[in-house]
Amino acid sequence: MSKILILNGPNLNLLGRREPEIYGSASLADLERNLGAKFPTTEFEFFQTNSEEALISKLHEAFESKTDVVLNPAAFTHYSYALRDACAVLTSSKIRLIEVHISNPHSREEFRHNSVISGVATGVIAGFGLSSYELAVSWLLAN
Ligand code: DQA
Repeated sequence: MSKILILNGPNLNLLGRREPEIYGSASLADLERNLGAKFPTTEFEFFQTNSEEALISKLHEAFESKTDVVLNPAAFTHYSYALRDACAVLTSSKIRLIEVHISNPHSREEFRHNSVISGVATGVIAGFGLSSYELAVSWLLAN
């Protein structure tokens, strides 16, 4: 059975304590535990980094190993062409990559309305809190 990489970008290490009115009170460890409990037969790799370089390198690893990805690019969503290009490497080779957001960026500040990632993602799920990740995993497992 294939593995799913759950990739979280900058500031998501502070989930639960970072602007809880927007992102909720559950931590990144809670998210990882919940996904493991919800999908007990699925093999996950969890990776969070504040570094664009590390995020891109992890996507290159996923490309080499043909691993599907659930990616919350966090603020890189809005401006990182380098991250977009790394995502395109995967999806243009038919490796699935779902862009997820905890909040709904479209209901927030103007600069969050644009995603440079969405155009090369397999799909986008936003605004469902931590359930955004579950929805993405459910789709990957069903398709
Ligand atoms: C986010 C939305 C982004 O705009 C923001 O920079 C984040 C988190 C979300 O999950 O809602 O860091 O990706």
